[in-house]
Amino acid sequence: MTAHSVKELLSGKLTLQEVTVNGWVKTFRSNRFIALNDGSTINNIQCVVDFEKFDDTVLKQINTGAALRITGTLVESQGRGQSVEIQVKDIFVHGEADPEAYPIQPKKHSLEFLREKAHLRVRTNTFSAVMRVRSALSFAIHQYFQQNGFYYFHAPIITGSDAEGAGEMFRVTTLDAKKPPLTEEGEVNHKEDFFGKETNLTVSGQLEAEAYAMALGKVYTFGPTFRAENSNTSRHLAEFWMIEPEMAFYDLDANMDLAEDFIKNVIRYVLENCEDDLQFLEKRLLDEEKRKPQAERSEMALIEKLKFVADTNFKRVTYTEAIDILRNSKPNKKKKFQYPIDEWGADLQSEHERFLVEKHFKCPVILFDYPAKIKAFYMRLNEDGKTVRAMDILFPGIGEIVGGSQREERLEVLKEKMAALDIPEEELWWYLDLRKFGTAVHSGFGLGFERLVLFATGMGNIRDVIPFPRTPQNAEF
Ligand code: 4AD
Ligand code: MG
Repeated sequence: MTAHSVKELLSGKLTLQEVTVNGWVKTFRSNRFIALNDGSTINNIQCVVDFEKFDDTVLKQINTGAALRITGTLVESQGRGQSVEIQVKDIFVHGEADPEAYPIQPKKHSLEFLREKAHLRVRTNTFSAVMRVRSALSFAIHQYFQQNGFYYFHAPIITGSDAEGAGEMFRVTTLDAKKPPLTEEGEVNHKEDFFGKETNLTVSGQLEAEAYAMALGKVYTFGPTFRAENSNTSRHLAEFWMIEPEMAFYDLDANMDLAEDFIKNVIRYVLENCEDDLQFLEKRLLDEEKRKPQAERSEMALIEKLKFVADTNFKRVTYTEAIDILRNSKPNKKKKFQYPIDEWGADLQSEHERFLVEKHFKCPVILFDYPAKIKAFYMRLNEDGKTVRAMDILFPGIGEIVGGSQREERLEVLKEKMAALDIPEEELWWYLDLRKFGTAVHSGFGLGFERLVLFATGMGNIRDVIPFPRTPQNAEF
C-alpha cells in the first residue's frame, strides 16, 4: 500500500479506510497514543495503540524521535482538536531513538541549546515551521519573477570583483594536497591563488546581473553570497542568500515600485499558503512576549503584522528628510540616541533606522537619495553632485531588508568615481564595457533572504532561520 502523508490524512478529503503512514514519534502517551509527524505539516496524526496486541519489545522502541511505519484504520477521532486518528494494526520500527541519548525530548528547549544541534533542531515544531515558511518564500520569489517577465540568472560564486567595494571578502585558494593544510608556523599552506589569479567568494551577483540585464532586459539572481564582516549580530551571517533583480530601462522610482510590490506579494503568498505554520509561530511568539515587560512587547501579533505590511504603502523619504527628523527627535522622552546625528552625511545606525520605522512612521520605510560618500561606487550620481540614487528598505523589527539603486550608466562619470575611490579600471574593464556599448538607464536591488524569513516567521535571530548558519563562531556542520 502506498503511504499517505500526515497532511493528506488530516485534510478531511480521504474516505475512512485502511492507511499507511511513515513518520517520527513526537510523543507516546500512556502506552496508547502515538503522536506521529512526517514534516508534511506542523500537525501530528494521533495513532491509537491497543497495547495488549503488541509485543513489549516493540512498544519499548516507541520513543520520541523513533521512525515508524504505521498501518491501521483511519477513523473519526473522539479526542479534541483532531478530526481523525488511526487505529493501529501494524507497527514497523525503521529506527529507534534512545531516550537517554537523543537530545530532542518533548519539552521546551532553548534556541541557544538547539543552535548547537543544527542537524537535529529541524525536528522541533519551531524549526520545522520556520523551514517550511522559508521553502514557501523561495517558491513565491521565483513565481513572482517568472510571472513578471524576469529570467533567472546564475551569477558566479567565485569572482574576481568586489561588487560592494567594501573589502569584506573570503579569498579562494587551492591547497597543496601533498602538504598539511597549515605550515609549522601556522600559515596556510596554499599552493596558489585560483590558478594564479586573485579571486574571492562573491559578496553580490549584481555586477554580473547588470551584464545580463543589458541583454535580457529583466533578470534576477537568487543564490548564496558571502561576507567576511566580523559582525556578531542577530542580523548578520557570513553566508546568506540574496535575491537580486536587475532591470534595464528602470529608474529609481520604478525600482522602488517593483521592490515594494515584490515584497508584498511574497508575504501574501505565505499568508495564503502557510496558515498552520504561521499560527504556530504566532502562538510561540505570544508566549515568549508574555515574559517581556509590557513596553517591549510588540503591538501586533505575527499574522496581523504580515497583513499590515502586505496592505500598507511603504513611506518614501529622502535621506535628507530622515536626517532632519532624527535631529529633532529622541528615541524616548529621556534618552538620546547612542550615536547622535550631528551632521548631514553620517551613515545611519540601526537605532536610527528602527526609530524611523517603529516609532516615527510606524510602517516600512524606503529611504532614498543617500550621500554618495557612504554608498557603493556604482550608484548613479544626482544633479546635486553629492547624493546618489540609492534606496534602502527598512522594516519593523529588522532594520535594512533591501539595499538597491539606479546604476551609473554614464561611462565618464563612472570612471571618475572609480578613480576617486582608487578602483583600478583594469579590474572592472568588462563592467565599463557595458557603458561603452549600448548603455542605458538601469536599476536593481538586493533583498537579504534570511532577513525576509526573520520577518515572516517572527524569529529574533538570523541564525535560527537558515539551516546551518555560518557565523564567526560556527561553521562546524
Ligand atoms: O545592501 P547590500 O550590501 O547591497 C548589495 O549587495 C547590492 N549589490 C544589492 C543590489 O543592488 N543588487 O546587501 C543587500 C541586502 C541587505 O539589505 C541585507 O538585507 C542583506 O542583503 N545583507 C545581509 N544579510 C545577512 N547577513 C549579512 N551579513 C548581510 N549583508 C547584507
Ligand atoms: Mg546595504
